[in-house]
Amino acid sequence: MKIFITREIPEAVIDLLQKKGFEVSVYKKDNPIPRKELIRQVKDCDALISLLSDRIDKEVIESMKKCKIIANYAVGFNNIDVEYAKKKDIVVTNTPDVLTDSTADLAMALVLACARKLPEAEKFVRDKKFVGWKPKLFLGVELRDKYFGILGAGRIGSAVAERAYSFGCKIIYYSNTHNKYLDEKLKGKKIPLNSLLKKADILSIHLPLNDKTNNLLNASNLRLLKKSAIFINTARGDIIDENILIEMLKTNKLFAAGFDVYDNEPNLKIEFYKLKNVIVLPHIGSATVEARNNMSILAAKNIIAVLEGKKALTPVIVN
Ligand code: NAP
Ligand code: GLV
Ligand code: GLV
Repeated sequence: MKIFITREIPEAVIDLLQKKGFEVSVYKKDNPIPRKELIRQVKDCDALISLLSDRIDKEVIESMKKCKIIANYAVGFNNIDVEYAKKKDIVVTNTPDVLTDSTADLAMALVLACARKLPEAEKFVRDKKFVGWKPKLFLGVELRDKYFGILGAGRIGSAVAERAYSFGCKIIYYSNTHNKYLDEKLKGKKIPLNSLLKKADILSIHLPLNDKTNNLLNASNLRLLKKSAIFINTARGDIIDENILIEMLKTNKLFAAGFDVYDNEPNLKIEFYKLKNVIVLPHIGSATVEARNNMSILAAKNIIAVLEGKKALTPVIVN
């Protein structure tokens, strides 16, 4: 059995697969695998480990002659044509739960960094401008008693809500269904999208990207946000109209925004580099030693299960 991995990922995956006697082949160069090479490699693999930056569309799936499982090394799976894989009897799995805390930590780090202007303040010191304590130097905002809006109260949204609640925030959320944990333990309130946008002092996106969420935040509703609001996106760039948000940030219609994800990564809109009230990160939500190791192990376990004729541990479900 041949397993192909589109990039080097933590070794745990290779150990587990090799112990089962599988042949593991890895694209080792430090760049995203070129499409031609991907198509060539998937032709004879029995299982594929893909990254969120690999587009696994019809053409790629069509090239697979004996592949039984596509194990995405991410929880998001918008890079894969899951419907088509299903038609071809290929199981698609992702890596939920094991990266929830890391991603929630990063979202909260962005909230705090925006609220207290950390990048600007840090640069100020490095530029040797710190010449003494000043009552009005880098005034930010406190989190206590602020309305913290969660968009998509799933695994990561709930973990962010838990963190925000411990900072004294009041939780409001927009999601498909009620979240019992948020309702009962965090005194959260599920409210319609437009009400949430109007009310939130902090807004953090944790929706998956799909046909329904693509461009969900756009010209018709983003302008409902408070001028004092902090906007955080660690989900997917295509969920928001970045141009509208950039214009709002440029004209101080928002306090600040923190981004870990963008549409058309890694080609960021030029304005992102220029705005002072914006924090930009290179898609590092799950980038901790713990999460990345456990993602590797989970991907390997999914492959072993499927190739041994058992049920995958974490198959993706499309409604
Ligand atoms: P999840 O548990 O599936 O949570 C998503 C939540 O959004 C669910 O509660 C879901 O409700 C809700 N939802 C889905 N579509 C909706 C819609 N149209 N309207 C309202 N609510 C909707 O997923 P997760 O594990 O928290 O991950 C969320 C996303 O974060 C991933 O898909 C990925 O794109 C992103 N992510 C980014 C990073 C990073 O590195 N920055 C790391 C990890 C994940 P139902 O379940 O009731 O449908
Ligand atoms: C990261 O963005 C993921 O979806 O795991
Ligand atoms: C600040 O350092 C203070 O003591 O209030």
